[in-house]
Amino acid sequence: MCGIFAYLGSVKASAKIIAGLQKLEYRGYDSAGIAMIDSQGKLQLAKSVGYVSKLKKILESRKNANYRLAIGHTRWATHGQVNRRNAHPHLDCSRQIAVVHNGVIENFQELKTQLIRQGHRFRSSTDSEVIGHLIEEFLNQGLPFAAAFRRALQSLVGAWAVATISSRRPNTLWLGRFSSPLAIGLADKEVYASSDARAFPGKVKKIIFLEDGQLAKINLGQKQKIAVFNLDGRRIKHQPIGKKSIGKINLSRGKFDHFMLKEIFEQPAAIARALSGRVDFKKRSIVLGGLETIKGEIKKKKFLGLVACGTSYHAAMIGRLFASGGLGMPSWLANSSDYGPLDIDAYTLGRSSVFYVSQSGETADTLAGLKLIEKHSKALNLGIVNVVGSSLARRVKAGVYTRAGVEIGVAASKTFLNQIMAIILAEAYIGQLQRHPISGRSFFSGLKTLDKKIAVSLKKSPAIRKMTRRLTNVDSFMFLGRHLAYPLALEGALKLKEIAYKFSYGSPLGELKHGPLALVDRNNVAVITIFRKDPDWRKSISNIQEIIARKGRVIVVSDLDRREIPAQVESAISFPRLNSLWLAPFVAAPILQLFAYHLANHLGREIDKPRYLAKSVTVI
Ligand code: M6R
Repeated sequence: MCGIFAYLGSVKASAKIIAGLQKLEYRGYDSAGIAMIDSQGKLQLAKSVGYVSKLKKILESRKNANYRLAIGHTRWATHGQVNRRNAHPHLDCSRQIAVVHNGVIENFQELKTQLIRQGHRFRSSTDSEVIGHLIEEFLNQGLPFAAAFRRALQSLVGAWAVATISSRRPNTLWLGRFSSPLAIGLADKEVYASSDARAFPGKVKKIIFLEDGQLAKINLGQKQKIAVFNLDGRRIKHQPIGKKSIGKINLSRGKFDHFMLKEIFEQPAAIARALSGRVDFKKRSIVLGGLETIKGEIKKKKFLGLVACGTSYHAAMIGRLFASGGLGMPSWLANSSDYGPLDIDAYTLGRSSVFYVSQSGETADTLAGLKLIEKHSKALNLGIVNVVGSSLARRVKAGVYTRAGVEIGVAASKTFLNQIMAIILAEAYIGQLQRHPISGRSFFSGLKTLDKKIAVSLKKSPAIRKMTRRLTNVDSFMFLGRHLAYPLALEGALKLKEIAYKFSYGSPLGELKHGPLALVDRNNVAVITIFRKDPDWRKSISNIQEIIARKGRVIVVSDLDRREIPAQVESAISFPRLNSLWLAPFVAAPILQLFAYHLANHLGREIDKPRYLAKSVTVI
């Protein structure tokens, strides 16, 4: 949440910042701003409410905007309303220090009260503004800039990634990180900093990822001078790594109206990538290089744990069912957004391989879960992550990348399918090691053609677009499914609330009679039931009859023939029938994604940037 982009080089810093911020806009789009040092060494500022494109227009209207050093920010509001005053960068009283911040400063109120007592004047209602005033205060007390910057960051409790420039030091970029990501990108005679290394331009060849509690001072003279320090001021050796393996954010939507639709349609290719080189079809076994090196440790662990939130949690729910129902492995699941000391069971944790599932690898809740488990147990911590080199990927012992490719739409789509795939491959691999192999040929033969089957589901897009047109006036939606379809129901409901802003609720189908049935209402509610032709399918049909008997509007998403579905349902959308039940989510989920997409599109919503949300949730 919130994107930071900074540049130190020889030309057009403002253009570099805008290009970077546009790639970081997925992190928040409430407001944007930039601070630059001009050729006289003075600090210049520009801010606007809304998208980065507005800030770009403001900068284009400024003449001679050739700055060498600049910091920029795209905001997802935490403290203080969305307005120009609260947009970053924030200044100190003397207007000589500019700061952009990503994270939450938990003790900002105490710090602010103290700074006001010391005579500082605040202009915004953000937590972030304290940082500039703290630096100023320590400078007033006679500390050199580096020490003042360090002392200011030492004073903060919470999460912070910070970039600072000052007209007092017009050639220096100051950076710091604790719990929120920040990477430094090195190019020839240029240095960049970004909340996401994938936003660096192609000319950046090496990257330094700042770790928790690290600060950097960057100067550009004849040579790049990059000094990295601990919070206590000790110099740290930094080892830049090559940028090759890190993906690139590409802002082209091709023929699609939205990134989300493009990403939904990329799913066949994304799944093929997730499987490539990881399945030995002859031996019917899984090959995972990422886990191979630690297989000795994995073998010793009796339990398998999954920790995640949001869409990643729904993928983990499917993974949990696969571990128990598909492999007979003892397993547990935790929602990282509600995980705390009361959940700690040191006995189980110490005997667990724990997978942290996260698209971004930066989600504060999931990282907090990892830190808590690290503190209280000897669990073997592993990652299921999409973003290569992310904080989570760097912190766990080993893992499996989901290989979905960069996802720009805030609503997860292709990353959901690839998470499910990476989880079940990882679990099947562990099952092999622990003599809990996956049984049945249908799983392996199904994997071979899965991409093509997903493409069949995607062909339903025009029918779903037509059907959802009739639903724009419906106030509330219930998504219902049993067993494997329950996580899908939750995911379908999440997609709809996220991008269509419709109240939607996911529940086990069997739960209907225990309460939710009372919500059925012909005019205001639509019920989406999801199921496959498994041994329970007739029970699902009976549940549908119960809704129809109360004049409810029912939409069926299933692999049944139309004649097997009660004639009175409003619509039926089918997905291909697969022999392996474990592969059904891959062909059913795209139908639900398209359902949410088309409904949101009929309503004219900002699909790729839904209100109040951001893709990477780096605050708790
Ligand atoms: O990056 P993560 O997978 O850890 O993110 C977790 C959730 O914030 C995320 O899945 C969110 O629920 C989705 N963007 C919703 O579509």
